[in-house]
Amino acid sequence: MSAHPVQTASNDWLAICPASAIPLLGARVVRTALGNVAIFRNQDDQVFAVQDACPHKGGPLSQGIVHGLTVTCPLHAWKIDLDCGEAIAPDQGCVARYPVQVRDQHVYLSLTPLPRTTET
Ligand code: FES
Repeated sequence: MSAHPVQTASNDWLAICPASAIPLLGARVVRTALGNVAIFRNQDDQVFAVQDACPHKGGPLSQGIVHGLTVTCPLHAWKIDLDCGEAIAPDQGCVARYPVQVRDQHVYLSLTPLPRTTET
């Protein structure tokens, strides 16, 4: 899916797109000053926003396969937990996560990264 420019909304939140514009089990890429951010939607209609660069060698996670709470990188099949941003063992690495929410059927993104959930 092609990158999508953002528009500024109130406060820290950026209005991204209608929720329906993110394909089920797919992703939408948002170009930001911090690099590309991939917003995913899983089969339970949960949305996640992570840096669109695999912690292994920078593969485009947005082109990966979403299953449950993980995405499989299209390059070498690392699995990344979308909820915490960590690679699934035995692989090790982490992507930045960003707050994302759906309000009134519209997706909003904050570019203030969420803290890591595990120690390095
Ligand atoms: S770049 Fe993602 S698994 Fe290698």
